[in-house]
Amino acid sequence: MNSVIDITDLTVEQINSLIDTAEDIAANPEKYSSACKGKKLAAMFFEPSTRTRLSFEAAMMELGGNVLSVHSSATSSASKGESINDTAKVVSCYADIMAMRHPLEGAPAVAAVSASIPVINAGDGGHCHPTQTLTDLCTIRSEKGRLNGLTVGFCGDLKYGRTVHSLINALARYENIRVVLISPDELKIPDYVKEGPLAGMEYSETDDLVKALPHLDVLYMTRVQQERFADREQYERLKDVYILTPEKLNMAKSDTIVLHPLPRVNEISVGVDKDERACYFKQVKWGKYMRMALILHLLFGNHDGADILEGAVPVDGVCKNPRCITHTEQELPLYVKKGRCVWCDEEI
Ligand code: CP
Repeated sequence: MNSVIDITDLTVEQINSLIDTAEDIAANPEKYSSACKGKKLAAMFFEPSTRTRLSFEAAMMELGGNVLSVHSSATSSASKGESINDTAKVVSCYADIMAMRHPLEGAPAVAAVSASIPVINAGDGGHCHPTQTLTDLCTIRSEKGRLNGLTVGFCGDLKYGRTVHSLINALARYENIRVVLISPDELKIPDYVKEGPLAGMEYSETDDLVKALPHLDVLYMTRVQQERFADREQYERLKDVYILTPEKLNMAKSDTIVLHPLPRVNEISVGVDKDERACYFKQVKWGKYMRMALILHLLFGNHDGADILEGAVPVDGVCKNPRCITHTEQELPLYVKKGRCVWCDEEI
């Protein structure tokens, strides 16, 4: 499979090499300005996005390629009921590579199985966001000089925050990483992350951001994901549970860095922006360079990721995760591998 659906589709060596390439692109953009001449990226966004879509589009343009875009379900034939399977086959006739964001978990994986071009998961529901993770890793290495031996605090919506799940999955493969999970009970990290990557890591859980702050090398703030809540009252109760202010940041070390995948709502007060430890706008810049590096890797590198369906067994019915793509995709079997849905990772 020549696609990136989950961050584990890339080896640590490949991730490190992508970061090297992103740094080289940032330093020598002219060297890469015709690298994708004659190639087309399809940016298939069935859910709102500013950074991911625009950075993918800017990435392909700065590589000398062209871009085809779908901006929403409403303006595509998804609104007429076209399946992901058919969409992926159709887009393969027009483009050389596809980035897909979708509200349903597993949709980009279904596209990767059907498409004849590389598919990049640009965020699927509350599940994964591997290109945000590449961006986060690149920013951490650029600011801290290393990806080993770090204490990383994740704060906010750890239940629906797909960027958190993907980054923990990546950090699990580096050495001496300690994770501090800061969230209220209702927004705790899902079991599949605890039983998966976290099982082999040193980690602790707390609901107290201020107490955790002095111990952190990296603080990864997240937005409470309004769009994933079935219960509006619960969202209203939880949305302002953590707000990082300059006063609270005084509790952190002088070289702690603050990251946020953005968009922020009000979980980081604007007063924090001028603190040199606030790195979330630098993170945005790295997002474009990392996506340039990934496009080059998938179009011209030697990427050979795992086959999604290898070792998976089809079973009757649909996944019990209500946000899984099996609920809407026509005739899509629920495949199970190691006791989990291959599309969304839900325990079956
Ligand atoms: N970080 C991120 O995914 O931002 P967008 O939703 O704006 O793409």
